[in-house]
Formats: sequence, structure tokens, C-alpha cells
Amino acid sequence: MKRKVVSMTMAVLLGLSLAACGSNDKGTDAGSSQAADSQEATEAPSKEDGDAGADTGAAAANKDKPLVWFNRQPSNSSTGELDMTALNFNADTYYVGFDANQGAELQGTMVKEYIEANIDKIDRNGDGTIGYVLAIGDIGHNDSIARTRGVRKALGTGVEKDGNINSDPAGTNTDGTSSIVQDGEIEVGGKKYVVRELASQEMKNSAGATWDAATAGNAIGTWSSSFGDQIDIIASNNDGMGMSMFNAWSKENEVPTFGYDANSDAVAAIAEGYGGTISQHADVQAYLTLRVLRNALDGVDVDTGIGTADDAGNVLTDDVYVYKEDERSYYALNVAVTADNYQDFTDSTKIYDPVSAQLDEGSHAKKKVWLNIYNASDNFLSSTYQPLLQSYDDILNLDVEYIGGDGQTESNVTNRLGNPSQYDAFAINMVKTDNAASYTSLLSQ
Ligand code: BGC
Repeated sequence: MKRKVVSMTMAVLLGLSLAACGSNDKGTDAGSSQAADSQEATEAPSKEDGDAGADTGAAAANKDKPLVWFNRQPSNSSTGELDMTALNFNADTYYVGFDANQGAELQGTMVKEYIEANIDKIDRNGDGTIGYVLAIGDIGHNDSIARTRGVRKALGTGVEKDGNINSDPAGTNTDGTSSIVQDGEIEVGGKKYVVRELASQEMKNSAGATWDAATAGNAIGTWSSSFGDQIDIIASNNDGMGMSMFNAWSKENEVPTFGYDANSDAVAAIAEGYGGTISQHADVQAYLTLRVLRNALDGVDVDTGIGTADDAGNVLTDDVYVYKEDERSYYALNVAVTADNYQDFTDSTKIYDPVSAQLDEGSHAKKKVWLNIYNASDNFLSSTYQPLLQSYDDILNLDVEYIGGDGQTESNVTNRLGNPSQYDAFAINMVKTDNAASYTSLLSQ
């Protein structure tokens, strides 16, 4: 609750601060790789060249400025197909996220291994069926889809549809007759158990916000009154929803709950019976989000400070990320966080040591970045990702304007990109993954 108030206040302040910016600050100096492409006389710098450390030269056209999509990959929300037009918007466009399939598999395996290790007490009513309920974040978000599939795959409850595991919400499945999921089987110590997805639903509130923690808190109330001690496990596409269900019901009833994100509150709850979570290495993602922009603005190879050490010694090793050139995408790798290792993950806002060295402002001049968070109340983005971005923006000498959306309407965000010429680069977190063109059209004007 408190966090929500803080982030909403932040969103209001951000809105005000943006509105307060003058519109005459147009000629942001370029001096970057894209400068050469922009020859329009109208875009000539209108400001003196005296900005701290800034280069001189013609201002870049907005369509040529560095752009990074993050956390929500431009893609078709029905098929998951990547939107390569958006990912190739210009020569300095990238996506930064995490490896959804690797993480989904880890989450599924974590739940399965927990069941195996705790088989003597997991079946609360002793009926030989391990029942679980599943909170789904956003049926049109490929990361959410991957996590639903990962849990169903590991537990044997998935049903194939069009060559892949069906990720649709099952609604309720009291007797195992659903056509969306099937009963799985797990054998431990020579004894066979049925595994049943008793219920699952998308946690979308009436206003349309997805991954909605409050909706999940209500859902567990309904589910627990219908299923009672048939529920042995709770799985959630993220920690925000997982913690809401944990606090509302599963902590008191000692039902292990598994989430995703390794937010600090969820990691701390492992000591109190939360089953586990997955770190999507937000510390690496937040760095990459700003780093690809920094590199483009400096006109250096995109690998600088990533696979190749920069002049301050920042570098990542390939056990924490992969880059897929054909997808123009950087993906951080995931790590399971359980009772065995949670002590190493207690502060989700701590920056990643190997990329924590300050860049020199003399050779990496301050630049202005417009960045939005699709929903200022999203637990993961507001409690983990944004604080990390705010630490890295100082290290990378980026002056970032943070815009918080309402999680429901794209125009609530795009309306605040009214004057892109004020910025040197853009970092975008769409409300809907299909909507990339709403942003690129503004940058192309
Ligand atoms: C996180 C969710 C979050 C979503 C927002 C996901 O990567 O796991 O917690 O709500 O991003 O887009």
C-alpha cells in the first residue's frame, strides 16, 4: 500500500516535471553515430555549444536517435511473433529483457523439485492428488505465456495446442476434466501422485490493468473457499501477485507459493514459507537498458561495457546475458532463488558489481533520456527495476526523465512524449506489446 502511494506520487511528480519543461530546448547536441544522417536545416542546434562536455554538430532527427525497448518486447500479443519493424526502427534500436524460456523452465523445475523434496507433507488432505492454482499475469505478454507453459510443462499438466503448450487460463478444473490442462503424474519413492491445476485465471482488474496483485489476492480468497485443503501449491507468473496471495492466505495456511522476479519482499518471505522465486537479473537488465543508449550516444561499438570492458572497467560475462543479433535483443539469464540461496538476493535494488564503475563525464558527456514505465504501480518495475535504473543513470551520466503510466492506456504514456526533440535517446516500456508504432510514429514526425 505504502509503495503504491509512493509510486503514484512519483508518477504525478514526473508528469509535472515533464510539463514544466520548456519547448525551446530543442537543439540537443548530437555528436553521436546518428548525427551524420540528419542534415535537415530545421533541426540545427538552437542552443549554444556550451553544454557540459557536449559535442557540437547538427542535431539528430528524432527518428535516428537511439531507442531501447525494455521489459515488454515488441511482438504480436496473440502469436508472440516479434515485431521486427519496431526492433529495427533505426541503426541504434535494441530490446533488453530476459530469457523467458530459460526462466520459465527454471520456475517449473523449482516447483517440481520442491514437491519431490517435501512429498511427505505436501499433500495436505492426503488424497494422492497434488493440487495447485496458478495466477496468470497477462495473456498477451510473451513472458507471462512462457511462465504458464513452464509450470505446466514441468508438472505434466500442459496440453499441446498448435505445436506448443496451451497457455490459456483454465478457469476452474475441480475434477480434472478441463480441455485446457490435463492431470499430470509425479512419482516419488515408488509412489505415484496425480498433479492437478485446480484453477487459473488472468489477474486483470476491471479497469484493464494486468499482473494485478490485488486481483490475485481476491482470487485466492475465492479459490481457497472452493478448494480448501485441496490446494497444496500456489504458482504465480510474478511475485507481486504471489505475495498478495501469500499475505492473504497461503502464509497462514502454510501453502508454499512460488513467484518470479526476486523482489526484496518476496525474497525475505522465503524465510517465512514463501516457496521460491526467480531472479531475472534485473540488475543486469537495467544496466543494459541504459548502456546500449550510452554506447550509441558515444558513437562506440554496442558491445562496449557489455562483452568488452569499457574505459572504466565495466564488463559483463556471458553467464549473465545473451545477445541475439537477429532479434536485436539482449536477454539477461535467470537464477532460481530458494531457501538454499536466498540470502544472496535480499536487496533486489543493489547494482551489479562488475558494471558499477562511474564513467568519466569528460569523455561521456551528460545526455538526456526519455524513459517510461508502463505502469507506475507495477511491483517489479517500481520496486526493483526503476531503483536500479536510477543508480545506473548516474554511473552512465544520463539525465533520465522517468514517466510512469497507468498500465492501461498507451495514450496516457504517448501523450507525454509530446516533444521528443528535447531528448537524445528513448527507453520505452509499452503498455501493450503490439503498440510499438504508437511510439515510432511520434519519433518519425
Ligand atoms: C515481471 C512482472 C511485471 C512485468 C511487467 C515482468 O517481467 O516479471 O512482474 O509485472 O514484467 O511488464
